[in-house]
Amino acid sequence: MRRVITIDGPAGAGKSTVARQLAERLEWRLLDTGAMYRAATLAALRAGTLLEDDQALGTLAASLSIRLPPGSVLLDGEDVSALVRSVEVTRASRFLADSPSVRRQLVAWQREFAAENNVVAEGRDQGTVVFPNAFRKYFLTASLEERARRRHAEFEAKGSEIALDSVTRDLEERDARDAARAIAPMKPAVDACVIDTTGMRLDHVIDQIEQDIRSRLKPK
Ligand code: DC
Repeated sequence: MRRVITIDGPAGAGKSTVARQLAERLEWRLLDTGAMYRAATLAALRAGTLLEDDQALGTLAASLSIRLPPGSVLLDGEDVSALVRSVEVTRASRFLADSPSVRRQLVAWQREFAAENNVVAEGRDQGTVVFPNAFRKYFLTASLEERARRRHAEFEAKGSEIALDSVTRDLEERDARDAARAIAPMKPAVDACVIDTTGMRLDHVIDQIEQDIRSRLKPK
């Protein structure tokens, strides 16, 4: 039987690191759903699609091939792993995240992916909407200050110059929109295990989750 572990939460809570390393340790596939929204956003920016036009975005999304082989993001066969992390794509991604037509398309692909693999699915709506019957659900959070610091360090490591203030404002705005979205708002599933990672080392968070999962996988 295929199994799904969901890891949801706001940007900068440590989801990506935790999900990636957990998938490696379990030898399961990582389903980075944020990367799917980002790849579709890049395609929309390139095509000049009107970002407020739900129907046009949906038509565009349906025409795309977005693949997530281990470690990269392929948009119509092109490796866009680095491009999708740009500040421009990050900012514009909210329009695609708010588009019901885009969400419908991406959710269908996410479920197809999980039909073929054991997956660690990372995003905003994985435990609530996409995989309500997941094997185990986690929701990671952290204080706004800590999340902004982590995101800022990531941008700096890639050589992008952006002020901490600006990262904080972007995060705040994105959280508010993600939480207020009419469809698939970001919130913990009722049966999710909520972990506040403020002040925690992420490798400890991963150890804790791995232990929890392994104990549940053991035949009783
Ligand atoms: O997690 P991330 O920063 O890579 O997400 C990129 C964008 O996609 C962000 O605007 C939130 C959105 N998103 C979403 O709406 N639902 C998901 N399951 C994953 C991401």
